[in-house]
Amino acid sequence: MRQSILAALIAGLILAPSAALAQTPIVIKFSHVVANDTPKGKGALKFKELAEKYTDGKVKVEVYPNSSLYKDKEEIEALQLGSVQMLAPSTAKFAPLGVKEFEALDLPWLFKDDETYAQAMKGQVGKWLFQKLETKGITGLAYWDNGFHMVSANRPLSKPADFEGLKFRISGSKIADQYFRILGSIPQIMAFSEVYQALQTGVVDGCENTASNYLTQKFYEVQKDITVSYHAHLQYAVIVNSKFWGGLPPDVRGQLEKAMAEATDYTNSIARKENDDALAEIKKSGKTTLHYLTDDERKAWQAAMQPTYKWAKGRVGPEVLDVIAKELHIEMN
Ligand code: LMR
Repeated sequence: MRQSILAALIAGLILAPSAALAQTPIVIKFSHVVANDTPKGKGALKFKELAEKYTDGKVKVEVYPNSSLYKDKEEIEALQLGSVQMLAPSTAKFAPLGVKEFEALDLPWLFKDDETYAQAMKGQVGKWLFQKLETKGITGLAYWDNGFHMVSANRPLSKPADFEGLKFRISGSKIADQYFRILGSIPQIMAFSEVYQALQTGVVDGCENTASNYLTQKFYEVQKDITVSYHAHLQYAVIVNSKFWGGLPPDVRGQLEKAMAEATDYTNSIARKENDDALAEIKKSGKTTLHYLTDDERKAWQAAMQPTYKWAKGRVGPEVLDVIAKELHIEMN
C-alpha cells in the first residue's frame, strides 16, 4: 500500500512538468482596426470569451483593437506570415491579395436592406467568395455585419453635383473608387487609423463609413455635414491563417468553430442597434448636421452611380456578379 502511494507520488513528480507543458495555451492573436465599442469590436471580445470557455483555457485569444498591432494592409500580410492568427477586415480590403471578387459587395445600393445582405452572405455568395481565399493560405470562417455607409463632408451632400471636386477617403475598394469618381470627386485610399487626422487637417474633405465608426473614431467632430445615405454596405470576413487553423487539434478546432458560430450570431444580431444608437448619439452631440435623402434625391444618386455596375464587370468579373444576382433574384446591369 505504502509502496503504491510512493510510486504514485514519483509518477506525479515525473509527469508534472510535461502536464504543465501540455497546458501552455495556444495563443490566437486577433487584430482589428476599429474600437472595442463597435459591432466588430464586441464580436471579437465575444469570440475571446467563448473560445477560452469552450476550450477550457487551452486557447487564449489576445484581441488587439484600434490598429494597435497593425494597420489595414499590414494586417493581411501579417496573417499570411503567421504573425497574427485571426483578423476581421472589411471585404473591401482584399484586393492587395489578388482577390478582387469581394469588391462586388461594395456596389452601391446592391442590398436593399439588412435582411437581403444577410441572405446573400449566408447563402451561395458567402461560400463562393471564401473559396477564393483558399489558395492564399487564408481560411474564411464567418461574415460579420456592420450595416450601411453614410457619407460626409464640410458641406451638405444632397445632389450628385455636391460631390464634385471633393477628396474622399476610401478604404480600398475599386468599386467605391469608381462611384466617387463618377460623381466627380477624388477618392483616396487611406488606412482607417489615419482618417480622423486627414479630415481634421483637410488632407481629405470627406469620407464614408457606418455610424458606429463615425462615433467611435470621432469623424463626426470634424465633418460639418453627414448624409445618412446608406448607399453601400460594410461587412467583414473573419479569416484565419490556414496552416495555423489546420494544425490545431481537431477537438480544439471544433470548440473554436462553435465559439465563432455563436460570436457571429451575436455580432450580427447587435450590428443594427449599435449603429442606430451611434447615430442617435452623433445627433445628440450637435457637432454635425445630419441630412436624409428624399426619394427623389436617392433616385438621382442611384441613377448617377449606376454606371458603376457596368464598370464592375471588368473589375470583379461576371461570375461573382452572376452568383449575387441569382442569390438575390436581381438583374445586374
Ligand atoms: C474602414 O477602413 O473604413 C473600415 O474597414 C474600418 C472597419 O474595419 O470597420
